[in-house]
Amino acid sequence: MYSIKQITSQETFAVRLPVLRPGKPIDSCIFDGDDLNTTAHFGIYDDEIIVGVTSIFQTSTPLLSQKQQFQLRGMAIVDSHQKRGLGDQLVQRAEQYVKENNAEVLWFNAREIAVGFYKKMGYETIGEPFAIGDIGIHYVMYKPL
Ligand SMILES: CC(C)(COP(=O)(O)OP(=O)(O)OC[C@H]1O[C@@H](n2cnc3c(N)ncnc32)[C@H](O)[C@@H]1OP(=O)(O)O)[C@@H](O)C(=O)NCCC(=O)NCCS
Repeated sequence: MYSIKQITSQETFAVRLPVLRPGKPIDSCIFDGDDLNTTAHFGIYDDEIIVGVTSIFQTSTPLLSQKQQFQLRGMAIVDSHQKRGLGDQLVQRAEQYVKENNAEVLWFNAREIAVGFYKKMGYETIGEPFAIGDIGIHYVMYKPL
């Protein structure tokens, strides 16, 4: 039985670390702005066990013209639970949060390998691909809400 809960930034680390920062120190899981009161974190649970996380930051990209923008960050589902529709459910929960907070668009930096996942959810790429550190090529993707 799966459920989605709003969680603290620290609770995201159990998924951020193995999925997004494997082999790195726990400090690499801390994102700037994690604990601002405009930031929200969500976890998806398989009974009591956290198996996926995502976070939403009130941040704008100059690539978009909307005044009220939110950025999705740290989207991750543990390996054992991928391809079961859980990522889709978490993105939908994030979209609900964005709408509740009267923003007009959700955007993020998508890893190249995840672009197909987000396209299925109606997101489009904008601008040129770019490299983020040692993580690889990313695209800005967005969807008006
Ligand atoms: C990318 C990720 C978040 C997707 O979550 P998920 O729970 O596995 O995805 P879902 O099962 O909800 O998939 C929804 C749909 O997208 C498709 N999909 C999933 N991952 C995909 C991918 N990498 N490329 C193309 N399509 C993909 C699924 O097949 C499914 O399609 P369907 O509805 O036709 O069956 C997850 O695989 C993950 O955490 N990957 C590693 C970390 C990562 O890359 N995070 C994103 C950083 S931007």
